[in-house]
Amino acid sequence: MNKTALNISLFFFHLFSILTLAQTGLVTQKAIVVSAREEASKIGVEIMKKGGNAFDAMVATELALAVAYPVAGNLGGGGFMVYRKANGEIGSLDYREKAPLTASKNMFLDEKGNVIKGKSTESPLAIGVPGTIAGVFAVHKKLGSLPIEEILKPVIALAERGVIVTKKQENQLKNYHEAIVKVNSANSLFSILFKENDTVKYLALAATLKRISKNGRDEFYKGETAQLLVHYLQQKGALITMEDLAKYEAKWRTPITFKYKDLKIISMPPPSSGGICLAEILKMIEPYDIAQMGHNSTEAIQVIVEAERRAYADRSVYLGDPDFVKIPIKGLISKKYLKQRMSNFSFEKATLSSDVKEGKVTYKESTETTHYSIVDQFGNAIAATTTLNDGFGSKYYCDELGFFLNNEMDDFSVKPGTPNMFGLVGNESNSIAPQKRMLSSMTPTIVEKKGKLFMVVGTPGGSTIITSVLQTILNVSQFKMSMQEAVNAPRFHHQWLPDIITFEPNTFDTKTFENLKAKGYIINEKITPVIGKVDAILILPNGKLEGGADKRGDDTAVGF
Ligand code: GLY
Repeated sequence: MNKTALNISLFFFHLFSILTLAQTGLVTQKAIVVSAREEASKIGVEIMKKGGNAFDAMVATELALAVAYPVAGNLGGGGFMVYRKANGEIGSLDYREKAPLTASKNMFLDEKGNVIKGKSTESPLAIGVPGTIAGVFAVHKKLGSLPIEEILKPVIALAERGVIVTKKQENQLKNYHEAIVKVNSANSLFSILFKENDTVKYLALAATLKRISKNGRDEFYKGETAQLLVHYLQQKGALITMEDLAKYEAKWRTPITFKYKDLKIISMPPPSSGGICLAEILKMIEPYDIAQMGHNSTEAIQVIVEAERRAYADRSVYLGDPDFVKIPIKGLISKKYLKQRMSNFSFEKATLSSDVKEGKVTYKESTETTHYSIVDQFGNAIAATTTLNDGFGSKYYCDELGFFLNNEMDDFSVKPGTPNMFGLVGNESNSIAPQKRMLSSMTPTIVEKKGKLFMVVGTPGGSTIITSVLQTILNVSQFKMSMQEAVNAPRFHHQWLPDIITFEPNTFDTKTFENLKAKGYIINEKITPVIGKVDAILILPNGKLEGGADKRGDDTAVGF
């Protein structure tokens, strides 16, 4: 081979390697954290390198996201976590926010019974009782191994050192700036319009975390932090009292488990709709050979959309806080019921959502909330999704304590049939009541194959969370993609109402749209820029771990 030919073949070899590598996420030997920010993933890994387990790393990562990713990471919100220990034991934790004691069913309606615009999203009444600190302490108490002070040390150091603003974060801050300034003082930290490469120091948050590290969980729910928080909230006109905080508890719940082909799926039960909807959809599509139909082919999209339509219609009627409503879980995910549910589906023509159940809505999408996945060096795995609801939640930022407060009350059905900010319609099951938890779509999920850990997955994205998790599982299991490819792949979404399929723009074949339109489907390629930001882990056949960090955000996998 002459020198030129050698150079050309080397060039193509390198090009091929780069292209191939670009489709594979970070592969590690022992442990990995995939989260929305490199700083948070690194802190989770640091804890595991010190000998901590996935549960210690969860506490660190969750709180590091509150520092590095304040759009969704939080102390003023809540979340859900699903775990699988190395010995196969599984469980899930609900640290969802709750309605305050003085909340009431019609609190967001005027005297004529009409919804008061913005009251459940932008007013102080939108704030639910936060669950995050109760959540991380519950995890640490039951499953952690390192002292809490050691776990919080690098998080506090990060808050004091400060976090560099990324380009994506600059855009986020710009988009929400007006709303943030509107409800906070001109001297508030986030009234400054931070730009890319600025360093934001979170000194008040560092001080709050130091008190929590010293005094434990009750510092947030009964101590000085609680008093400062309630003082702030009452000044703003929120409902939350010391009694609300003192009464808050995170709850261990039995995960939703079900089979899909050769996989066992372990996901979040109510008050998240995630696990039940994921089960309904996967079991409705199980009889169809979607692998043979082809990834994102017209037929595969049809089958998935029709299953989604039916599952989201059920969500609106049956699901709510299990401590308040009786949910027919077994019935909803039974093979017989789901077979009958798909019996009127035909490849010839779209089913109309109005024929499944009636309702007319407008649609607004948000991709806030954040998810992280962790596998440790001992084989334990956790999937955790946490949120303030909208980006920066209610936008109320308590400067004295250094964190944003959620606007999770909007996840209740404020009036039967009226859509929330995600266009989701609810009914009596998800109506507001004191101490009740609002229905969620968060879907932290762990997948087993042949009795072994196979995948850890989850995403933000409001109502699109469930369908993004679904597609990621299908991309790996049916379409044989790597973890990173599965995360990168273009996504679509249908949620019964509104009766439209939303596609990520400029990523699908226009011929597919024509085929779908000809069958009566309504296509939206414009409103939603991204659907989900999936952070996932795949256990490779050789036992190594592949992280899939979503390119749609600053998401990063770190491990060893
Ligand atoms: N706040 C979004 C969710 O819980 O689904």
